[in-house]
Amino acid sequence: MNDREEYGLLEPEEGEGEDFGDEWEEIDVSDTEADRIARKRDREFAEFRKRLKDADQFKVEQSVFDDATFAAIYKLVQDGYIEAFGGPISTGKEANVYEALGAEDRDVAVKIYRINASNFQQMREYLEGDPRFEGIGSDKKKVVLAWTKKEFANLRRAKAAGVRVPEPIAVERNVLVMELVGLVEDRARRLAEVDVENPETAFEVVREYMRRLHRAGLVHGDLSEYNLIIHDGELVVIDLGQAVTVHHPNAEDFLERDCRNVAAFFTRQGIDVDPADLQAFVTEAEPEP
Ligand SMILES: Nc1ncnc2c1ncn2[C@@H]1O[C@H](COP(=O)(O)OP(=O)(O)O)[C@@H](O)[C@H]1O
Ligand SMILES: [Mg+2]
Repeated sequence: MNDREEYGLLEPEEGEGEDFGDEWEEIDVSDTEADRIARKRDREFAEFRKRLKDADQFKVEQSVFDDATFAAIYKLVQDGYIEAFGGPISTGKEANVYEALGAEDRDVAVKIYRINASNFQQMREYLEGDPRFEGIGSDKKKVVLAWTKKEFANLRRAKAAGVRVPEPIAVERNVLVMELVGLVEDRARRLAEVDVENPETAFEVVREYMRRLHRAGLVHGDLSEYNLIIHDGELVVIDLGQAVTVHHPNAEDFLERDCRNVAAFFTRQGIDVDPADLQAFVTEAEPEP
């Protein structure tokens, strides 16, 4: 078998056996249970939505979360993935991140993509050319849903490849539940916000994670000190929504940019990092076992 040849996905000389990156799962973005809940609007859902809308931490968001987003949260609560909401951790361009209490008293992070605020034209460019999203089209809702599922799938794949990422827990429509890195009272910092105590080691870890990601068939696509968080001496790679498979027509450009960002950051930390060397390290073929 060789899907790679069939789809012209990877240069055969570079093939490294059946690596993870060449399998790709279809990602289904058809109508979700949450959409059905939102349509039905039964009393229980209506009450839930009202409670959530009235909760302090959601006050600002009233106008941006639509009913189907509330329904997605409702479904996650019903399924036991979310017990209670804590405060917002971040309000980004495309998504808001909240801390919450998950199953078995575990703290989780809930990332909610906003269907309307999303820069979906840009999202489409990342999705197009990713074999997992063939024929996604230009429906705004579908694009954002696909994006959320992609982040979930990317986190899973990265984790399987030995990259420290937040453990993905559940995804429903435009809402993603994952492990909360850091404690509720002690938010994990981005690499950009801390004094990196040992930049050499930090760089070696980041470099190794980039290589593992690449060997798992992924390019992060937005890697920098802003999407690396550090907690309890651990470096964690986050924000994998835009990560593409190595077969994406722009994968190499994205990788080059990631390497430039990472090299620039560590150069500012006083170590001599050349972006081209970094890229060569990341893309170096896996040694034969
Ligand atoms: N799993 C997580 N655990 C702890 N903090 C997180 C987690 N995911 C995101 N954050 C926080 O939320 C911020 C935004 O999340 P990110 O996934 O980078 O979204 P954005 O697309 O808005 O940049 C991060 O910089 C980080 O501070
Ligand atoms: Mg980010």
